[in-house]
Parts: sequence; structure tokens; C-alpha cells
Amino acid sequence: MEECVFIDGVRTPNGRANREKGWFRKLRPDELLSAVYEGMFARNPQVKPETIDAVFVGSANPSGMQNDIGRLGWLASGLPDCVPTNTLTNQCPSGMSAIMHGARAIMTGEADIVVAAGVEDMEKVPMGAHIDFPPRLLKYYNGADLLMGATAEKVAERWNISRADMENMAAWSNRKAADAKTAGKFKKEIIPVTGVDDNGNEMLVEHDQWIRDTVDTAKMATMSSPYKPNGVVTAATSSPLTQGACAVLLMGRKKADEMGLSYTHKYRAGVLAGCDPTLMGIGPIPAVKKLFGKTGLSAKDIGPIELNEAFASQALACIRDLKLDNENAPFERVNVWGGAIALGHPLGQSGARVIVTLLNIMKTDFADARYGMASLCGAFGNAAAMVVERVA
Ligand SMILES: CC(C)(COP(=O)(O)OP(=O)(O)OC[C@H]1O[C@@H](n2cnc3c(N)ncnc32)[C@H](O)[C@@H]1OP(=O)(O)O)[C@@H](O)C(=O)NCCC(=O)NCCS
Repeated sequence: MEECVFIDGVRTPNGRANREKGWFRKLRPDELLSAVYEGMFARNPQVKPETIDAVFVGSANPSGMQNDIGRLGWLASGLPDCVPTNTLTNQCPSGMSAIMHGARAIMTGEADIVVAAGVEDMEKVPMGAHIDFPPRLLKYYNGADLLMGATAEKVAERWNISRADMENMAAWSNRKAADAKTAGKFKKEIIPVTGVDDNGNEMLVEHDQWIRDTVDTAKMATMSSPYKPNGVVTAATSSPLTQGACAVLLMGRKKADEMGLSYTHKYRAGVLAGCDPTLMGIGPIPAVKKLFGKTGLSAKDIGPIELNEAFASQALACIRDLKLDNENAPFERVNVWGGAIALGHPLGQSGARVIVTLLNIMKTDFADARYGMASLCGAFGNAAAMVVERVA
């Protein structure tokens, strides 16, 4: 089989999905996608858009402005109509699924060059917008138990995750993200995008909007759960509502060599897994176990790990159950530049974003690691996990 290598990965900064305060409030999700396509082709001038064999775009809610955003976003970017596109969803892992689809097409020889992307604008297309649960589903599940916050509370209870541990994790996620931002670590992946400041004046956005430079742990301790009376999960221990896009350029190794392009990592394996939708946050547990089972790898073989922080409760449950790191933050190898609680979580974008960040971590802080891994949970019990491997 052909090998699939990562040529490049870029993303917009993550913006706050807020009608009054969001830096990207005047942009549409297709415009965020255009920004990453433009940035990617500008950085890789040898790769001509018309030579792309396929574009896969993940979005958790491909409705409204995100309806077939894979196709419409590509055409709206003025890119060639001869390139086929595919919008796909399996909720939060969508961006990772896009990479898996692309990698598999390359490995089987059905494609040489693929763009895999993810996008979400949780302000213009809010979570759950236009959803209409099948009535027959509601024979098996109570609809209220399928809401994200409810699942996070249930995981905290079942896995016995204390509020203090969640707040500690959220605080560390913020500190690490703020340190990484200050050290310029995201520069390699972020394409600056013109947005607006609080007063509506144009501003070049170069950083993620949600990262808090200081962590107010005293305030965190006083916040109440928006999900459940006397609940333990708060806004501070949840990923916030976000806007963002990310794109990854994948290529067959032979094609990359032929074109003289450099690369350092390849796609090793990726799996999807399912779990109880009322406990959707624990999805990385079956996903990572399946990934290890299929590849013969184990936690000790892996260097850095990106475990998407939909909520601190589920991330802690997964880290502990899989014995990926310390019991509590600060972690040694999980989310070393912070996670979604601090960076934001534009649902369909995050699966691609965690791979781009993982690769950049492997090129810098974990330059000796052979393998890196990323995993995400997703609404309704979708989950995904992927391993990448150093080749140069
Ligand atoms: C939790 C949630 C409902 C909060 O929404 P919100 O009320 O609009 O959030 P805000 O950002 O305004 O935060 C609410 C308050 O908490 C405060 N806050 C949030 N994080 C904080 C932190 N780390 N430290 C201190 N204060 C914090 C905010 O400053 C704000 O305070 P204020 O009202 O005094 O200004 C929303 O972020 C959410 O739904 N998140 C989960 C998204 C999700 O389910 N994703 C899918 C996962 S699978």
C-alpha cells in the first residue's frame, strides 16, 4: 500500500462564537474555510488546486450556512469545479474523519493529493440547530440525556471526577495554552485572518480568542452548572462556543518525493468507535483501545497525545481509564499546548486541528517521538482516534 504523508496543516485562529464579541462575527464559515485554503496554497505554491484529487470537509452541523460546505465553500473560494468534494459528519470527530477518508484514498492508490478540512461556526449554525430527533430514537433514549452538558455531568458522576480536579485541569489547559501562545508555538499553524475588535473596527486576528492570559481560579470555584441543578460541570470546565476552520494537505509519499516536497510524518492508522450516547464523552476509551488493538501499539509507544477537551470531566475520565498520563493535570504528554477548554472547540474543525497541533508538537517539543496520537469524543456516541508516525 502507498503511504500517506502530511505536507502541511493550517488553521484560522479560533474565534469566540458570539454575535457581539466574536472577532469573526462578521465572517461566515465558508469565508473561514477560504482563509485556510488560501493560506495553504500560498504556502505550497507547487501544489496547484486543479491537481487535488478530492476534498473532504468535516462539519458537525452541515445545515444552513454549513449546508454542503465542502462543495459550496470550495466553489465560493473560487477554486476549480473539476475538483470533487465531500462534506461529511460524525459530529466532533468530523475533521479527523475527513483526514482518515483522505489518507485511505491515498493509501489505496485512488488519490495522490487530498485536502482534508474541518469547519464550524457555532454562532451562525448553533449546536443542535435544525435537529429533529427520530421519534423512534426517543423510545430508546430520553432526548434530554443526549444533550452535551447532560452527558458531561453523567460522566463526572459515573467516573467519580471531582469538581476540583476538573477545575485544576481547566486551569492547566489555560496556562499551557497561554504559555504556548506567548512562546509563538501556534505561529506555524495559524493563518492570520482579518476580523473585528469589540468596537467593530477591522483587526488582524493572529491568536485564539478564548485563551485566558490569567486564570481566575477563585471565580471558577463560584460558578454554577448551566446543565443541571447542583451539577459540577461549569462554563469554565466546558469547551466554549467557537468559530474556526482548519485544512490539511495530504499526499502519497511517492508523489511528494516526485514533486520534491518535504514531509516529516505519515498517517499510520485511524479508527472510529461508538459508545452509549448518554455518556458520549468516554468515546476515546473504546476508540483508543481499538486503535491499539489494530496497530499492536500501546500507550508506552506513544509520545505526545491530543485528547480533545469537550469537557474536563470526559477528558479526565479517558486519561485515567486509558492510563495515558498523570491522574491529574499538569499532564506530561497530553495536550501540552493546552486543549479545547482553553483554545476553543469549533466542533467539526477540532478533529483536524488536533492533528495539526500534534504534528507541530512532534516537530518541536517531542522531536524524538516516533508516534503521536489524537482522539475525540462526539455527540451521540461517535468517537475517533488516530496515530501518526515520524518518517524523517
Ligand atoms: C457552558 C456554556 C453554556 C457557557 O456559555 P456562556 O454562558 O455563553 O459562556 P460565557 O463564555 O459567557 O461564560 C459564562 C461566564 O463564565 C465565565 N467563565 C467561563 N470560563 C471561565 C474561566 N475559565 N474562568 C473564569 N470565568 C469563566 C465567563 O467569564 C462568564 O462570566 P460573566 O457572565 O461574568 O461574563 C457554553 O460555553 C457551552 O455550551 N459549552 C459547551 C459546548 C459543547 O457542548 N460542545 C460540544 C462538546 S461535545
